[in-house]
Amino acid sequence: MGAIVINGKELSIKHKDQLKVKVEEFKKEYNKQITLAVILVGNNPASQVYVANKIKSCEYVGIKSLAYKMGENSTQQEVEELVKSLATDANVDGILVQLPLPKHINESKILSLIPSSKDVDGFMAENIGNLAMNKESVVACTPLGVMKMIESVNYDLTGKNAVVIGRSNIVGKPMALLLLNANATVTVCHSKTQNLTKICKEADVIIAALGRPNFVKKEMVKEGAMVIDVGINRVDGKLVGDVAYEEVSQVAGYISPVPGGVGPMTIAMLMNNVYQIALEKAKNEL
Ligand code: GUN
Repeated sequence: MGAIVINGKELSIKHKDQLKVKVEEFKKEYNKQITLAVILVGNNPASQVYVANKIKSCEYVGIKSLAYKMGENSTQQEVEELVKSLATDANVDGILVQLPLPKHINESKILSLIPSSKDVDGFMAENIGNLAMNKESVVACTPLGVMKMIESVNYDLTGKNAVVIGRSNIVGKPMALLLLNANATVTVCHSKTQNLTKICKEADVIIAALGRPNFVKKEMVKEGAMVIDVGINRVDGKLVGDVAYEEVSQVAGYISPVPGGVGPMTIAMLMNNVYQIALEKAKNEL
């Protein structure tokens, strides 16, 4: 029997359509726009596509976007100055600095200039700390999108063995915390992990976020497992995930495709985070 496909594209449109209505209500209630500033530094082709999609989604849901495209040779100081000015701009609700930044830029220094109150990516220590303590927080968009995809098929994570492959600050770590908060038993694997195949084979849920094309093979997946593919890799001009989709869908119970899986959900969750931050701010200003 083939796996049930979790269609992130369809689900993302559903989320964005619901949000569109809320954004419209926000404008009427508070008589103002919601504004997201997006900063792209350099010419990374994947980042250019992601940023274009984020801006398109802002238009779709009715959020105003301010796009700042800076050249590859921009200096640390130039990027810092832009973030600092947006940090104090009362008309800007959220700030997103697209990662990765060019190598000569100190990424963590730049991110540290984003106030937690405008951290739509949920990358700041305060937001990660709140997530670790299972308190309300802005959660990183990709892992949040994964959780919504799992929820969309009414899958109960309680007591399940969940394996996260990848330990990045953007995906792996917050993903592990979300799964833990949902009562799963969580294992985080990475490039130094031994016996990865054995660990994966025992998993009820596999989240592949390591960035290696077609890495998760059929032999690594338990019959009926939930397999969510966070990878976006370009191979011979084609987008492929971290999961060998064709063979894994023969054994998995649920699987997410690439493209059309986690990617669109990440953007839908970003829109949601921007809205939530703007709403919180507007309520506090009343
Ligand atoms: N680069 C890859 N994913 C992301 C993301 O979710 N947010 C930002 N800012 N940069 C990214």
